[in-house]
Amino acid sequence: MARLVLVAVLVVLGSVACQASGYGYTYPNPTPIITGTPQPSPSPPPPATPPPSPTPTPEYPTPTSSAPATSPSVSPPTSSTPPPPSTLPPSPTATPVYPTPTPTTPAPPPASTPAPPPPATGLEVGYYDDKCPDAENIVLDAVRNTTAGVKAGLIRLFFHDCFVRGCDASVLLNKIAGKPEPEKLGIPNLSLRGFEVIDAAKKKLEEKCPGVVSCADIVAFAGRDASKLLSTYKINFNMPAGRYDGFVSLKDETLANLPPPFANLDTLTQMFANKTLSQTDMVVLSGAHSIGRSHCSSFSNRLQPSANDNSNTSMDATFAGKLTQDCTAGSDPMVPQDYKTVDVLDSQYYRNVIDRKVLFTSDAALMTSLQTKSLVQEYTKWLIGDLKWYKHFGDAMVKMGNIEVKDSTKGEIRKMCGLVN
Ligand code: HEM
Repeated sequence: MARLVLVAVLVVLGSVACQASGYGYTYPNPTPIITGTPQPSPSPPPPATPPPSPTPTPEYPTPTSSAPATSPSVSPPTSSTPPPPSTLPPSPTATPVYPTPTPTTPAPPPASTPAPPPPATGLEVGYYDDKCPDAENIVLDAVRNTTAGVKAGLIRLFFHDCFVRGCDASVLLNKIAGKPEPEKLGIPNLSLRGFEVIDAAKKKLEEKCPGVVSCADIVAFAGRDASKLLSTYKINFNMPAGRYDGFVSLKDETLANLPPPFANLDTLTQMFANKTLSQTDMVVLSGAHSIGRSHCSSFSNRLQPSANDNSNTSMDATFAGKLTQDCTAGSDPMVPQDYKTVDVLDSQYYRNVIDRKVLFTSDAALMTSLQTKSLVQEYTKWLIGDLKWYKHFGDAMVKMGNIEVKDSTKGEIRKMCGLVN
């Protein structure tokens, strides 16, 4: 009998492998759903009032989607010794308050390219094997010694790095007096965590092989390793490397490039397409919301009774009631994203989406088209669904790691991850 079950599992695995190449914050915000990419608006409506907070709430400019992440108008890299970085405000307590979304033009039809592409030019699996043989192990060791929450933070760090100026560690750069504020201080990045893990790995790597391993690759390896550890090795993939570190990091580029939690399906699809990722990749990568936490301000608009109409994007009433209670304790507290298995990276997220027990509008949006809904359903299938998703998640992480990668002509190997050399 056991053998029969094993055979059945192997058959299923085989079919998954065959198909695998074929997969593809403030804001109690009463404004319902946006219908396109964030656009510059000459007179945006004022943001809704944030919950009372003992920590100062930052002022946010209107996002400008007109400046692409790779805008050539940015200042060129400086090779001179930079001044010491100013002290950054402690990020974990900051309240990530998004500006009110502005309705814009609809997005184009969803991308239907399931196959993960080969590594971006210059990226290679085992890139450091001959240059710094222990590189990947050093990162893995640094990631292993962290909490599940920090591991979740590392996966998100990779995403936020790649979506703004490509995977070039621009998200790690610290504020320098007299220079424009860096990505780290952008609204969506105020709640990032895991920077100290990257710094610890970098320190060890510089001791062992100075000037060899880029911070961008450390972020990519750390995201991969955190996925592996939080899924108890069910997500297990090679991460091509060879990225160089960027010179530029601008806070003002974060809102236009990172999808907000109140995004609808068109916006999500468009924002991922802008980064060469398909709608399927977006659905697959959203599964990372099966770990980690969120500030209540990121979804409080969905707790208002008016948000819970009869639409399929409303929140389950009991779930909303429980969150409402949890969210009254203190100022902008945090809650787990996956109310069932918060520390396990698995396909539970998709069951939560179907049960309408997910936090963000962007999560619920996955049920608003036939294509995305059927993918969500696919990933909840017993045995097959899990296995498929683990494989697809690895593929999509690799694909995300290809975004606007820099080579030695456009980047450097930083000595410290928070500072341009
Ligand atoms: C699809 C569009 C996405 C939106 C709108 C979105 C939005 C958010 C928001 C608002 C939070 C909570 C921040 C806070 O309030 O503290 C969050 C957390 C998180 N997101 Fe996403 N996200 C998206 C996609 C992704 C992707 C592609 C990944 C990674 C592959 C990811 C991984 C995570 C993780 C792991 C956390 C928890 C972080 C922690 O506990 O520190 N998200 N996301």
